[in-house]
Amino acid sequence: MYFDTHAHYDDGAFDSDREELLKSLGESGVELIIDPGCDLLSSRKALELAERFDFIYAAVGFHPEELDKYSREGYGEICSMARHSKCVAIGEIGLDYYWDASHKEEQKKLFRRQIELALELDKPVIVHDREAHGDCLEIVSAYPGLRGVFHCYSGSAEMAKELLKLGWYLGFDGPITYKNARKAMEVLELCPMDRMLMETDSPYLSPVPMRGQRNDSSKLRYVAEKIAQVKGLSPEETAALTLANGCRLFGIKGD
Ligand code: NI
Repeated sequence: MYFDTHAHYDDGAFDSDREELLKSLGESGVELIIDPGCDLLSSRKALELAERFDFIYAAVGFHPEELDKYSREGYGEICSMARHSKCVAIGEIGLDYYWDASHKEEQKKLFRRQIELALELDKPVIVHDREAHGDCLEIVSAYPGLRGVFHCYSGSAEMAKELLKLGWYLGFDGPITYKNARKAMEVLELCPMDRMLMETDSPYLSPVPMRGQRNDSSKLRYVAEKIAQVKGLSPEETAALTLANGCRLFGIKGD
C-alpha cells in the first residue's frame, strides 16, 4: 500500500544487501518505488533496477550536485533512457545553492534543458531545491504545462501556495518527524490531500526514531504516521491517498 516516490536504491549504500532488501519490502507493505538517477551512471542503474523489478520505476537526469559529471554524450544517453517505458519522470533535477553557489548559471541552464526534455516527452519532473527557492519557483513558473513534485519540500508556506496553484505536488520525507520541523508542519497543514507524496530519499533522511541510520522504504510508515496525525487521517488512509496521488502524477496504474 505504500508508494515511495523517491528512493535511491542504485546508491552504493545498498551494495551489500540490495537484492534481499528489495525482495523483503513487500512484507512491509511497500507496493511501488521510484528510483531517481542523479547522473549518467546512477540513471543507468536506476533503470536497470526498474527493468528487473516490476514494482520499481525509474527517473533519469543530472542532479545539480553532479553538474561536473555532465557531458554532451552522457546527456544524449539520458535523453534516450528517458523514453523507456519504465522511466516515469525526469529527475532528480533542480538547483542546489547549499552545495555550490558558484555555478548558479550553469545549474539553471541544465535545469531548464532537462525541464524542456520532460515537456517534450510529456513526463513529470522531480525537483531538488536546496536553498534556491526563489530561482526554482521562477524557472518552473516559466513553463506552463510543466508538472511534477518538489521533492522533500523545504520552501516557505507562501511558495508552497504558489506551487500548488500551478498544479505541483509536494514531497514529504523523514525530516517532518524531526523536532524542529515547524515550517514543514505549516506546509503539510496547507497542502491539499490530493497533492501530497511520501518519499524516503533512501539511503538518506531516516525518520525519527531511526534518524542517522541508513533509510529504506519500510521506514515510510513513520512519515505516514506523522502526516496522518497532522491531517486527521489514519496511517492507512494516508498511504492509500499518497499512493493514488503518485500513480496519478507519474502515470502508473494503481490497483
Ligand atoms: Ni534524492
